[in-house]
Amino acid sequence: MPAFRTLDDADLAGKRVLVRVDLNVPTEEGRVTDTTRIDRILPTIREIAQKGGKVILLAHFGRPKGRDEKNSLRQIVPALAHALGQPVIFVGDCVGTEAPKAIAAAKNGEILLLENTRFHAGDEANDPEFVKALAANGDLYVNDAFSAAHRAHASTEGLAHLLPAYAGRTMQAELEALSAGLDNPARPVMAIVGGAKVSTKLELLGNLVQKVDVLIIGGGMANTFLAARGVNVGKSLCEHDLAATAREIEEKAKAAGCEIILPVDALVAREFRANPGHRVVSINEVGPDEMILDAGPLSVAEAVLKLNTVKTVVWNGPFGAFELPPFDTATVAVAKAVAERVRDGKLVAVAGGGDTVAAMNHAGVAEDLTYVSTAGGAFLEWMEGKALPGVEALRKG
Ligand code: 3PG
Repeated sequence: MPAFRTLDDADLAGKRVLVRVDLNVPTEEGRVTDTTRIDRILPTIREIAQKGGKVILLAHFGRPKGRDEKNSLRQIVPALAHALGQPVIFVGDCVGTEAPKAIAAAKNGEILLLENTRFHAGDEANDPEFVKALAANGDLYVNDAFSAAHRAHASTEGLAHLLPAYAGRTMQAELEALSAGLDNPARPVMAIVGGAKVSTKLELLGNLVQKVDVLIIGGGMANTFLAARGVNVGKSLCEHDLAATAREIEEKAKAAGCEIILPVDALVAREFRANPGHRVVSINEVGPDEMILDAGPLSVAEAVLKLNTVKTVVWNGPFGAFELPPFDTATVAVAKAVAERVRDGKLVAVAGGGDTVAAMNHAGVAEDLTYVSTAGGAFLEWMEGKALPGVEALRKG
């Protein structure tokens, strides 16, 4: 990854290293319920500590407008310290007088976590004065928060212009994986895009049809495309007002030589809940009072067959209402087929986006894919072909 400075290029011993991480983790009653993002940042923290740097963690939590104890990073400290197997010194503000004192008192190799950067409006505003105040606490800046890199904030972007800036190991792994997924992929490339609504993924679909050879559309958004092709989707989730847009995307795909694959059969039910009465139907036989809640077995077979012809898969969004059994069937089956080909060395597979990580975990394949990104919005913007400010700021000048 020559375009970015990494920890290999940094002289860390005795340095105050400001490390932007993503600790925007799910919590319930002040306890962390999923540590994936914490686990991902451990290599960077440990490497800096082992090389004798003071690790000063900067992160946001939630979307507070000003100081709000509900969004304090203090609640993340036990989970972080547990994962690290090392104490974490919490500092109640990321700027001001307390942080420099705590940093000066810490020994090399110790780890500090500064309070939520979003307690100051200057973070989201990327206010130059706030950037200066943050920068005063560090000698170097390491960004290990790809999942926040679509934000041009002081802690994600501004700091990279004031201090020598490096990609952390997770950022580095993410950039390498994403580059193998869409920038310089082994061809043919397949994208699998699911999720509820076309309207949230218009730019993404528009970009993908120009970059990939096969696009499999699943989830609620497939219904919009089916309806635009004249299929009766009954009571299914469907954006009928986007029929013209769906047809335009199909035209664009045709012009670019991208094959769009839609479900040919489906699991349908009359109720949206776990294990309702359901049936498998050809896509042309959905009843007027039925909902499509998952792709059917023939659609899965077609996807798996196609999978055997491609070298790269980029995946965002589940096929069906995967949180309600049995409508997880298609997502799990295709995820397992993808994982098997990756294990056999025949496929590079990168998946990302909110629901997608949960879907891959549910299918038990998250460890087997080439890379599963924990990024939500950042992963989508990358799939849309957008430059991410936090990544751009790290590029070697
Ligand atoms: C995320 O959870 O996707 C990132 O931490 C970014 O959070 P934000 O959408 O509040 O900027």
